Parts: sequence; C-alpha cells; structure tokens
Amino acid sequence: MNRIENLLAAMTVEEKIGQLNMVAAGYAVTGPVLASGTAEGIRAGRIGSLLNLWGAQEIHAMQKIAVEKTRLSIPLLAGFDVLHGHRTIFPIPLAEAASFEPRLWEASARAAAIEAAADGISMTFAPMLDIARDPRWGRIAEGAGEDPWVVTQFAIAKVRGFQGDGLPEGLASAGAVAATAKHFCAYGAALAGRDYASADVSERLLHEVYLPPFAAAVAAGCAAIMPAFNDIAGIPMTAHIPLLRDWLRREAGFDGVIVSDYNAVAELIRHGIACDLVEAAAAALRAGIDIDMMSGAYSQGLAPAIARGLVSIEAINAAVRRVLKLKERLGLFDDPYRRGSAGASAPGVSAAGRDLAREAGRRSIVLLANDHVLPLSPELRRIALIGPLADARADMLGPWAMAGNASDPVTIREGLAAALPDAEIVFAPGVTIAGEDTSGIAAAREICRDADLVLLCLGEAASMSGEAASRANPGLPGAQNALAEAIFELCKPVVVLISSGRPLMISTIAAKAQALVATWFLGVEAGNAIADVLTGTFNPTGRLPVTWPRDVGQVPIFFAERPSGRPADPDNHYTSKYLDMPIEPLFPFGHGLSYSRFGLSKPRINKKDFKRGDELTIEVDVINEGAAAGEETVFLFARDIVASVTRPLLELKGVGKIALAPGEGGTICFRLAAEALAFPGSDLQPVFEPGEFLLSAGPSADPHGLLTVKVRALPG
Ligand code: NOJ
Repeated sequence: MNRIENLLAAMTVEEKIGQLNMVAAGYAVTGPVLASGTAEGIRAGRIGSLLNLWGAQEIHAMQKIAVEKTRLSIPLLAGFDVLHGHRTIFPIPLAEAASFEPRLWEASARAAAIEAAADGISMTFAPMLDIARDPRWGRIAEGAGEDPWVVTQFAIAKVRGFQGDGLPEGLASAGAVAATAKHFCAYGAALAGRDYASADVSERLLHEVYLPPFAAAVAAGCAAIMPAFNDIAGIPMTAHIPLLRDWLRREAGFDGVIVSDYNAVAELIRHGIACDLVEAAAAALRAGIDIDMMSGAYSQGLAPAIARGLVSIEAINAAVRRVLKLKERLGLFDDPYRRGSAGASAPGVSAAGRDLAREAGRRSIVLLANDHVLPLSPELRRIALIGPLADARADMLGPWAMAGNASDPVTIREGLAAALPDAEIVFAPGVTIAGEDTSGIAAAREICRDADLVLLCLGEAASMSGEAASRANPGLPGAQNALAEAIFELCKPVVVLISSGRPLMISTIAAKAQALVATWFLGVEAGNAIADVLTGTFNPTGRLPVTWPRDVGQVPIFFAERPSGRPADPDNHYTSKYLDMPIEPLFPFGHGLSYSRFGLSKPRINKKDFKRGDELTIEVDVINEGAAAGEETVFLFARDIVASVTRPLLELKGVGKIALAPGEGGTICFRLAAEALAFPGSDLQPVFEPGEFLLSAGPSADPHGLLTVKVRALPG
C-alpha cells in the first residue's frame, strides 16, 4: 500500500475530519496573529490546514506541531490569498489583464509564488477566474475582465506560474504553490452587482461563458478549486452536485481538492437548504467539497452526519485522500519545511521584483483618450499635480494585498518628480478621496493658474473595490467631480488619471479632459510606471479587458452580445436602444491608444472553405504609421452568421501583438482550428455546423474599426 492508503487505514474518523478542516490563523496589519486555540487544535488532529498565516517562522512553528506532536505526523497546508503579488505587489488582475500578455501573467504569478513560498505558504487562493460584466461588483478588480477567451488564457498562465510549471520538481518545488481556481462559478453574475447575492444564469451561459476558464485551469493541472458563495438558480455552489460532481469532477476530470469559501459551508443554513451544521456539512460533502474553510461545519457536523446516515465514511475517505494527495504533490510529507526558512529574514521587495512590477505596471496602463497633450512635452516648466490619488501611497496597492507593505508603493507624485527633475511640480490634493469637504479646492485651483498643464489624479480608494465592495453608483466618490469641474473651468490642458479597481462612470470628465488614462491600481511601482507612460519613456500598449460604460444604467454591458431581432436604429423607435442615452459604451473592449498610429490590412486567410479538422491561418499586416516605436494589439473575432442557436455578434478567438519601429510593417498570424468555431448546441454539447462565418480583425471590439472576411465551413 502507498503512503496515503496506509495513513487512511490508520486514521480515526476524527483525524480524517481534521484533515478536512481549514482554520484561519488570523492576521493583522502589522503581521500574523495566531488565533487562540489553533496550536491546540493542530496538536489534537482537528486541523489539517491553515489560512491567513504568513511568515516562514510562524508557519514552521505550526508545522512542527503537526509533524512532531500528532499521532500520524501529517503536515499542514498553509493557504493564503496571493491575488497580485505577495510582498511585491503587482497590478491588480483587471489591470494586468489589460496587458494582454500571457507571458507577463505567468511571470508575475511565478514571482509571487516564490515570495509566498519563502513565507512558508504552500497554497494560494488564486487565480480568480470570475468573468465580470458589471462594474458595480467590486470583485471585478480581482479577475481578468469580461471575456471567456481572455480569462481562459489568464487561467492557464496563472496556474503555470503559481505551480512552477517547467520546474524540475513541479508543484513540489520549494518555490511553487498550489493554485486554487475560484470562484466556481458565475459569482460575477451576482444580482444587481451586489456581492454575495444570488446569480441566475442559463445553462447556455454557463457552458459558453462561465465554465470554459475553469475547464482550462483543470487542464493546466490546477491543484484546487473554490466554489463561489452564491447560489445559481436556487442551488448554492457549495452544495451544487450537478456542477461540482457531474461537471467538474466527471466531465472536466478534476481530481484535485475542492476547498469551500470562507464559512460557506455553514452559510448553507442561511441559504435555506440546511437546517443545521450537520445537514450543511452533509450537503457540502455530498457535492464534493473536500475542505471546509473556517465554518466549523465539518468539524462539528460530519460525525453526527455519519450517525444520521446522511454521509458515508467512503465519501469522507475520498475527500481525505484528495487532501493527502495534494500534500504529497506539494512535497510536504518528504520535507514539511521546504517552503521558506524559519531562520531567514522575511522576504521584502527586491530590485528584480520592482523591475517586473514596473514592467507589468506600464503594460497595464490604458491610454483612453489623448488630444495631443501626451506624452508630456519636455518643454513643460510648471506642472500642477492635483487630486487625492496623486500622493496616495497605500491605495496604489489596490485590494487583496495582505502581505504587501503600505509604505512600499511609489506614488504618482514621486514617480513624476523622479522622471521630470527639471520641471517644477506643484501639488495640492484639493479633496480627499471620498470626503465631501470642498474647502481645499480653491488652493488647488490657485496653484494651477501658473501651470502649463494640470495632471488631475482622481479615482477610488483601494478599499472601494475587491470583496464586499459593491457600489450602486461607481463614479468618482465624494467631492472629486466638484474638484474636476473647478479645474476644467481654468481652461488649462488637463490630463486625467483614473486610479480604480473597475471602469468608473466618468463620461463628463472624459468629455472635458485633453487626455484620459486608466491607471487602475498598479502596485509597488505605480508612480514610476505611470511616469514612464506620461513622459513617453514607454509607449502605452494596454487595452481594456472590459467594456467601459457611459453610465451605470448600461450595465451589464459586454461586447459579445447576441443579435436582437430589432437592432438599434436611431430612425426607428421600435428598436433595441435607450431613449436617454446611446447604447455604445464610453470605450469599447480592447480600446487603448498608443503614441504611434497603426494601419491594419484586411485579414488574409489560407482557405475560404474549410472543414472539421482544418486549421485556418489568418494574417493581418500591421504598419506603424507614427513617429514612435510602439506595439499594436490586434483582436480576432468570429461571428457565426446562421446557426441552430443564436450566436454572439462578436466572439473573441485570438489576440496578437506586434512591436514595430516607425514606418516598419509586419504581420500578425492567428492560427484557428476549425473546432474553435464550434459552440454548445441545443443540447449544450459542442457542435460544428457548416455555413458561413465572418472573421474580423481590429484594434478593439468597436464594430466600426473591424476588417472582415467571410469564410465557409463545409459539411463533413
Ligand atoms: C473570501 C473570498 O471570497 C475568497 O476569495 C478568499 O479566498 C477567502 N475569503 C479567503 O480569504
């Protein structure tokens, strides 16, 4: 018998249940705090894994108890949310998605895993794969945006990066951590954008949009999956047999660990599908939840559930087997202390980490609009730096930066000062981020009077996005609009920088600013990355991974809409539009400017007629018509014109990038398997239907900029 079967045979029911119990060791701003009773619980075999504890010394101390003071010496898993960097905080995932660079996504996950592992951590609750089409939902910040193709690439890159793909020892490497794809699934479809609310999405939407990124994570070898807090159409995900057992385990072939979200098993009582912890534990275990994060339902409810005949010992054994297997894959049985060294000083932000953060930061910035004011002219003598985000150090970290240090980020003010040593930069915040006090606006206006240009730094506080940070009106908070109005009245050139975890409702600002830049939350190198883009040291290349609405009344909004029988027509009242607003977003998915201009050719296709098994190659010539070297991003979309099921107007099938010197031309080549044009048929099984398709290439999802060719799928 192997190690795991030997252990299982030796374990008592209580010890088995202990392996399924994850508890929070607690954390505080200054560092980890051990919840009382944790050490005792480990010693008694009641705790199999921890979360929220970091620091090799702290984790190794707990590990020592598990390994040396328990009957079976089973090591602990140590889980932690490493969403966008661990000590070195990188751009928030939504920002990093804007780089459209899987290579970078993987590199930042790799770097984060190395730091987390050095802190003793063996498992992260990332990547977050929730497709989000509603910026009211604060957790839009944590994922890669609205599109399943993009989120799928993001999933693969992040799993590889975290789990040390390509390292000789793989997941068992001292610098690798187990990834947890979350939140399974459709959490981003929360009712009215309200976090934790119910989601009611169709089976079709699940198969077309929400499940593919998880299928990709599983195929990439993701070690764990976390179900979402919400119910889907009445079945809470923590007890969702059709999705967890039938789809995830059986269809997608996932044999890793399913770890519940925080307290989610006990919350089955509030969802109203269990009357007590015993029923809640039974419902979760039956659906395939292996680890109960923090609810105590397994530790209190599973033994009585066996006694009541609600669960079998075989189901418990299966869950324990999966948990032990993960510990084995992580190399914890062979060396429980392989991650981090208790003697070493805590890892901090390294020079290499800063370099990567700066590169990721500048590639995440999206230049939304530019009326010839950027890059900043070297002639500028006096720049007024205004706004509450200009010097907001800690906010630059963004949400979910628990091991990040609030003093690490470079502020916008510092980044600019370093980049423009000869310019006079005068600064006034004008208002606080969310306060209503307008008394500082006059002083801010005053220092703008003699300035050649104003940089207006607006946006949200980091705490306004992320978990439990839904906003019914996700615009500029507090008195920031009043500040902006007062500055625009001066008729100076104004460049507006928006720091946020979501697209903010800023139509009025966009109409008045000479330039507008989405700078999200970029992490420790925020100020330097922003200065690189503003000065033109780096030619912006970021593109929106989400559609940016004009107003909250347009949400949910995304490019892959299905056709209406009455498409919008301004001359026809009875068509699909608003009476009070255009239906077009403020900025489409994929939008983002450069300091160069690029010309694109119509796509060239290797074959106009194709059949199943064929591969299409689609070539798009790109020429840099501008005066600066730069990178162009080209999106490839498909539309199935007539099918047995109505198909989206645009479906993303590929993204290509090319770097070109001024005047230089090159070709982006997309390879598209015919099967990539299949879709879930009326029975939700993939079908490849003969008929005509449109293939369009362009710089964004704006239909006006697309170059389109028609191809035909032949029967057979
Ligand atoms: C709740 C969040 O929903 C989840 O994303 C996170 O991983 C856990 N808390 C643990 O912190």
